[in-house]
Amino acid sequence: MQERLQKILSGAGVTSRRAAEVMITEGRVSVNGVTVTELGSKADPEKDKIAVDGKPVSMQKNKIYLLLNKPAGYVTTMSDPDGRPVITELIKGIPERLYPVGRLDFNTEGLLLLTNDGDWANKLAHPSHEVEKEYLVKIRGVLGSDKIALLSGGIQLEDGMTAPAKIELIRALEKNVWFTMTIHEGRYRQVRRMCEAAELPLVKLKRIRYGNILLGDLKTGEYRLLDPAEARMLAGVEKKPRGEQMTKAAPVRKRPKSR
Ligand code: URA
Repeated sequence: MQERLQKILSGAGVTSRRAAEVMITEGRVSVNGVTVTELGSKADPEKDKIAVDGKPVSMQKNKIYLLLNKPAGYVTTMSDPDGRPVITELIKGIPERLYPVGRLDFNTEGLLLLTNDGDWANKLAHPSHEVEKEYLVKIRGVLGSDKIALLSGGIQLEDGMTAPAKIELIRALEKNVWFTMTIHEGRYRQVRRMCEAAELPLVKLKRIRYGNILLGDLKTGEYRLLDPAEARMLAGVEKKPRGEQMTKAAPVRKRPKSR
């Protein structure tokens, strides 16, 4: 059956659909030896010989779903023109080419999903898929009730109002406050921009939950494979009762050390 090339490439785990479109327009993709640069082009993945950069694309693949505890100081891409560390350097012993679902900023830590399943990644990244993401936030100073009301009511950013965020105070220390912020939108640098708009100086940001999947006690820089039920549930194929969380790792939320 004929399908759009970008769909075939993402379905085969080469990269995301968006990045596949770029590959096509850059002239890196060929079908039966002929370079294709038109975005609407179609091919038959069962009959045609599709190649990227001259290397044949295999349609047989083992689908991998992986949860990484991203350290700060890593870029959420496959390569970085500025030579900064990239997250794929942390994944050892998995021959499949994995790419991240969404992104975390260079200095944001925590739960990042990677896969070679383009359909799954597209489902999760689609704006209609309103999965909750929970962040542990450390700020300098105090978190007054006015600021909590501002964040939890939705706040004006340059690209429009945000949806209300759920705020939960974790710990107030002399100079810092730790709290969690739960959002379901996935706008660019959203948590940082919300804190900036509320005049809260952000010191540390870590994603600790994505839907029902918790980061748990996975150490920084380590990863684990999601099992197929967790992956299906995240994409909304299997529903979990509200409030039930899935994790292989023990603690739901660790109290941060005083600093
Ligand atoms: N919000 C941010 O500001 N940065 C991230 O990395 C993730 C969410």
